[in-house]
Order: sequence, then structure tokens, then C-alpha cells
Amino acid sequence: MTAPTKKIKPLVAGNWKMHGTGSHLRELGRLNTSLSKHKFGCDVAVCVPATLVHRLSAMKFGAKIMTGGQDCHGAQKGAHTGDVSADMLKDAGAKWVIVGHSERRAEVKRGGHGETSKLVREKVLAAQMAGLRSIVCVGETLAERKSGDTLKVVGAQLRQSLPDTCSAGDIVIAYEPVWAIGTGETASPAQAQEMHAFIRNLISKAYGEVVGNSISILYGGSVKPANAEEIFSKADVDGGLIGGASLKSADFTAIVTASKS
Ligand code: PGA
Repeated sequence: MTAPTKKIKPLVAGNWKMHGTGSHLRELGRLNTSLSKHKFGCDVAVCVPATLVHRLSAMKFGAKIMTGGQDCHGAQKGAHTGDVSADMLKDAGAKWVIVGHSERRAEVKRGGHGETSKLVREKVLAAQMAGLRSIVCVGETLAERKSGDTLKVVGAQLRQSLPDTCSAGDIVIAYEPVWAIGTGETASPAQAQEMHAFIRNLISKAYGEVVGNSISILYGGSVKPANAEEIFSKADVDGGLIGGASLKSADFTAIVTASKS
């Protein structure tokens, strides 16, 4: 349900996952050049591996290509070997952090980290305290969709992952059906719109209409130049979280310029 007052600047964010060493940052130099040649009305961010956060921000693309991390710890500091805090990402120049990606929510035996929504909420709070904007990911598995549990699962993830205070200034939601991530399968534009409207409605009920109508809801899962425009054209789709296609500047440029403004 979308009130006519909805006015949101879309965001297209890349998620490099565990791809890219220093030399790959050249691709973002190319992205910067190609974006200069196009008109587009969305914000652009690239969430790189933690090792590249500082190097990307040192490239000084400013607001044109904002820097993001892909995860942070829920604590500000402490004995957490190998982890990175929200403060550290911020200090390295990040403006954004992805939290609760399905690849981190996935079970340890499947290569994930078994993250619960309760933990995701702690991470969102840590990001809020550090002044980072969070991209909070939710989405159902294929088995959950097939058994008709999609709304129940995504609703519970949202309720449990989001903190008591939530505003468009510090939180963006990414709806990413797990069955569409890296598989080449995409939710149909109608399926995406149905879920985004459901999410917006839930946010409006929990935090009020002003927040519901201003919060960005990104779609993620096999977005490519060929399907971006159709997905982004849907009323409640405010941009995308882009995995594989964000690694190539030409593809990412095409997706950014397909965004509505
Ligand atoms: P994909 O990944 O675009 O490669 O499907 C999206 C994501 O996991 O954020």
C-alpha cells in the first residue's frame, strides 16, 4: 500500500561479496568514468570486502560512489578475533554497511555464519551508533516460498531484525529472495512488487506512515542490465542490491542508469 506522498531517492548498491583484491578497484575507476557520461537519479554505493574499504574511500569518489562494508560486529569493540566493528568501517571511510545478508544468515555447515535476526538487530544498532547507514537484508528460501510461508518468514525477519527506532536516514531494507541470489533466477517484477508493498506496509504499521513512505526498499537477486529496468519500474522498488553484476563496470553502469529517479 503506497501513499501518494512517497518520495524516495533510489539507491543502487553493489555487493562484491568475497571478490576483489586491490587491482580490482580499477573497475571502480572505470565505473566513475562511465557514470560521468550518464544521467541518473539514484544514489550509488559499492560494498567491498573489508580489506578494500579504506582503499576505495581513498579514491575520493565522494557521494558519487559511496563506500560500504558487508558486515559489522554487534559490539563496539572487544575480544572478537577477525571481526570488524561499525566504528572501524566508519573510520575507514564507509558510509554504508550490509547486515543480515542471507549468506551470513545461512547455516555454518553451508558456509554461512548462522546469524539470527536477533544478532542482525544488534548489528543494526551498532551501525546506528557509529553513524553508518545499514542495508538490512531479508528474504525467504525456495522451500519457504513453496510451503506458502514467505510473508510469515519475511515479516518475522523484519520485526526481529529492526531496532525500536528506524528512519529512512539510517536504514534501507533489501528484499532478497534466497532462491534468486546468484542463481540467475529473479523474482518476477510482480512478485517483487508484492513483497515490497508488504514490507512497506509492515514498516508503516510499526514505525508510522512517514517512515513507511520514505524508507528505501531495494530488490536483490540476479539483477542484470537485461532485467533491471522492469524490476526498478515497480512502485515500491527503490533500487537494488547487486551482487555478480556489480563486479563489471559496464553492467553496473547499465543497472544504475536503469534506476528511476
Ligand atoms: P546477485 O547477488 O546479484 O549475484 O544475485 C545479490 C546479493 O546477494 O546481494
